[in-house]
Amino acid sequence: MEPLPLPYLLCSLLILLHTPTSKSQPIYVNCPTEANYTANSTFQSNLNLLLSSLPSAAAPSGFYNTTVGRNGADQVYGLALCRGDVSSADCNACLTTAAQDAVAKCPRGMSNTLWYDNCMLRYSNNSFFGIADSSFWEYMWDGQNVTDPQQFDDQLGQLMNNLATKAAYGLGRPPLFAVGEVKFTSFNNIYGLAQCTWDLSPADCYECLMTNIGRIPQCCSTKMGGRIFGKNCVVQFESAPFYKLAAPPTPQSNGTSTVTPPRPAGSVQNTGKGGSQTRGKDTGGKSKSLSLVDSPHCGICYWGVVGNSN
Ligand SMILES: *[C@@H]1O[C@H](CO)[C@@H](O)[C@H](O)[C@H]1NC(C)=O
Ligand SMILES: *[C@@H]1O[C@H](CO)[C@@H](O)[C@H](O)[C@H]1NC(C)=O
Ligand SMILES: *[C@@H]1O[C@H](CO)[C@@H](O)[C@H](O)[C@H]1NC(C)=O
Ligand SMILES: *[C@@H]1O[C@H](CO)[C@@H](O)[C@H](O)[C@H]1NC(C)=O
Ligand SMILES: *[C@@H]1O[C@H](CO)[C@@H](O)[C@H](O)[C@H]1NC(C)=O
Ligand SMILES: *[C@@H]1O[C@H](CO)[C@@H](O)[C@H](O)[C@H]1NC(C)=O
Repeated sequence: MEPLPLPYLLCSLLILLHTPTSKSQPIYVNCPTEANYTANSTFQSNLNLLLSSLPSAAAPSGFYNTTVGRNGADQVYGLALCRGDVSSADCNACLTTAAQDAVAKCPRGMSNTLWYDNCMLRYSNNSFFGIADSSFWEYMWDGQNVTDPQQFDDQLGQLMNNLATKAAYGLGRPPLFAVGEVKFTSFNNIYGLAQCTWDLSPADCYECLMTNIGRIPQCCSTKMGGRIFGKNCVVQFESAPFYKLAAPPTPQSNGTSTVTPPRPAGSVQNTGKGGSQTRGKDTGGKSKSLSLVDSPHCGICYWGVVGNSN
């Protein structure tokens, strides 16, 4: 059964809500209301413990999953994942915000998932580690249309399929993450990202990514950018760089002026946190972000909600 898309134009509202000094807002919160915990219960204190521990536990590597509590009914399972190209400091900041938002955005909820540009946080009283669940998905798209949809789709498909393989089976660092670009026109590239939570097996990661890539036509047909995010994996593409590029491999340079060759079309790379990626002032890469709250061209970006089944 395919749930109906319910697009909302939220931009103006979000701009009103978004003050420049506020911390980042979640892109989406999935808070099913069927299961609520009672105030001051053991579950609540377990959840608080989980939320207070996840950011610092996940920040160094970019991922952490843990369980708090012994008793089945009071146990809470949680995981935190940062986008593979963000620094530990940014990871920690994003997850700290997520942990603070979690209860505020989902009072008494026993299960909750929050997505941000740089991270996601999920918890539940039910064990979900290692369980691929592609039934739930959300999407966003860039309102600009591509001029040559056929060529764009061909290139995009090639890029995203490569990224799914690279993320799932590439054995890069961080795991289950890949970014890359493909030439679209002589002066335009398409940039893509694929990432899974680390509790998935490579095969489940690949399956999750391909499922969401297969949703791109539904979500973002002819659009210059799109993002599909689920509980286990995220795919994203845009017409401008939106991830922090890994430092190019140091050529056997002896200090003479070397012209860095452009990366070949269709190149796919895993970006690690290691090495010497420079953190700029955090402006450039955001200019084409699809995030409603961060996007400078929010007047033409839309928000879609699909399949809120869980
Ligand atoms: C859980 O709490 C939410 C918000 O407080 C409420 O809307 C919902 O009806 C509650 N669910 C149950 C099953 O009580
Ligand atoms: C929970 O604990 C707080 C602080 O101790 C208290 O103010 C509140 O009344 C308690 N709520 C319930 C439902 O017991
Ligand atoms: C984290 O997830 C893995 C993969 O499913 C699982 O084997 C492990 O037990 C989990 N860790 C904790 C602390 O629950
Ligand atoms: C989680 O909570 C729901 C709703 O209260 C309940 O149906 C389910 O059995 C709980 N899961 C566990 C593992 O206790
Ligand atoms: C993009 O194309 C769609 C369908 O062809 C059209 O409805 C929409 O207005 C276009 N959007 C922009 C920003 O041009
Ligand atoms: C640097 O390396 C290039 C190529 O190996 C060589 O031609 C050049 O002479 C070197 N320059 C210096 C300053 O060592």
